[in-house]
Amino acid sequence: MIVPMQKIVAMQQRHMTEIAALEAATFSAPWDEASIRAELENPLALWLVAEETGKDGAEDADVLGYVGSQTCFEDADILNVCVAPAARRRGVAQALMLELEARLAPRGVEKITLEVRSSNEPAIRLYEKLGYARVGLRRGYYEKPREDALILQKRLKSAP
Ligand SMILES: CC(C)(COP(=O)(O)OP(=O)(O)OC[C@H]1O[C@@H](n2cnc3c(N)ncnc32)[C@H](O)[C@@H]1OP(=O)(O)O)[C@@H](O)C(=O)NCCC(=O)NCCS
Repeated sequence: MIVPMQKIVAMQQRHMTEIAALEAATFSAPWDEASIRAELENPLALWLVAEETGKDGAEDADVLGYVGSQTCFEDADILNVCVAPAARRRGVAQALMLELEARLAPRGVEKITLEVRSSNEPAIRLYEKLGYARVGLRRGYYEKPREDALILQKRLKSAP
């Protein structure tokens, strides 16, 4: 098996089509391309992309995965995390989440919160491995299909 090398960069215009396609293929209520593009201009947003490296020219680098966040003062919310099916279980999501923490902490972020479907075992395991703890439950939060959301939170180490 060939394991792609990756680098993590801030989301850019050239990632839009692939991210929108991954959203549509993965989530029952996906972000559309216009909404994702608007995040490029949103000063509260930070989205990171894991790109496959070792290809000719960064312009056509494949998107392996991405994480989206928005920050309000010391609180950041993770909006979505997704890794392309062929690139899963190779540490891509973990690398994206850790890089996001590393970039948010110097901006004064003290805690990161996210919601996850209560049946989404891979994602829950990922978040728990990274130190997120359950702080709440939103009953019937998700639609298509209706399902509870677990609310998970992580306090960043640099925070007092
Ligand atoms: C959840 C998701 C982002 C994980 O991405 P990934 O790149 O495969 O995850 P990683 O390889 O970084 O895994 C890190 C850790 O997460 C956990 N994990 C990830 N996938 C798992 C799975 N299928 N089963 C069990 N644990 C899993 C493991 O603890 C893993 O560590 P390990 O490999 O040392 O055991 C990916 O499965 C995905 O995109 N799913 C669809 C979208 C989604 O559900 N997003 C979350 C919405 S809240």
